[in-house]
Amino acid sequence: MQNDLKRIHLGVNIDHIAVLREARRINDPDPVDALGICKRAGADQITIHLREDRRHINDLDAQKIMFNSALPVNLECAIDADIIDIVCQLKPHRATLVPEKREEVTTEGGLDVIGQFQKIKKAVEQLKAHEIDVSLFIDPSAEVIEYSAKLDIDMIELHTGRYANIYAMLNTPLATTHHSIKELERPRSELRQLLYKSLEEIKDAAYQAHQKGLLVAAGHGLNYQNVHAMKEIEVIHELNIGQSIIARSVFTGLEQAIIDMKDLLK
Ligand code: PXP
Repeated sequence: MQNDLKRIHLGVNIDHIAVLREARRINDPDPVDALGICKRAGADQITIHLREDRRHINDLDAQKIMFNSALPVNLECAIDADIIDIVCQLKPHRATLVPEKREEVTTEGGLDVIGQFQKIKKAVEQLKAHEIDVSLFIDPSAEVIEYSAKLDIDMIELHTGRYANIYAMLNTPLATTHHSIKELERPRSELRQLLYKSLEEIKDAAYQAHQKGLLVAAGHGLNYQNVHAMKEIEVIHELNIGQSIIARSVFTGLEQAIIDMKDLLK
């Protein structure tokens, strides 16, 4: 597979527009309205997550987005048989398989590729039979990449959540209130070492996957402050970013928020 390393592609994850809608359970704002704006602002891809509990994007959203998007659609989904059937009917440009736990606030950790190898293999085969490219959302681990590369996949997406959490612990006072990063309450000198280590892990994993002929994406928790480190890893082909872009758009408008992110990736 050819890898266009000249620039980093930006997938804008528009789930949070549906999160806002679901706060009132009405039909406003409609994530479909974001499609033209994303394209105009220079986004390369629309990313959505059709969760099993349909807490934000629902089936009708997914259908409308598939029908109306002029940009490729990257559909994140669990390795659940019913969801995979729906994805095969929707036929997005790519399916990204992600782990899903109902009680989590957002996707925590990467796929258990080793423990669920056969289940993932079956899902990959079904998706590929429907001519859908497949990516796996995984932790930056050499062993997980070894196993992932045994599957007929096109791409991996490296989970950057740990890097983002450590970055937040070092740089933002508010981060200490976040429930999921209590384990990171360490002296700053230790946090600096952890940040360095987590970036090295992402970098090593990215090069390993690239050498195995896979396209490399990364995402989760990336924002306008911490995204610069991803730019330095030249084999990273794509970033999928949601929360920080939609958060900024409340104040700047979506188009400007995407333009600002694209500028950082130049
Ligand atoms: N990539 C994947 C696979 C995800 O599950 C998510 C969160 O839905 C993202 C990227 C975007 O993460 P964030 O909203 O923190 O930017």
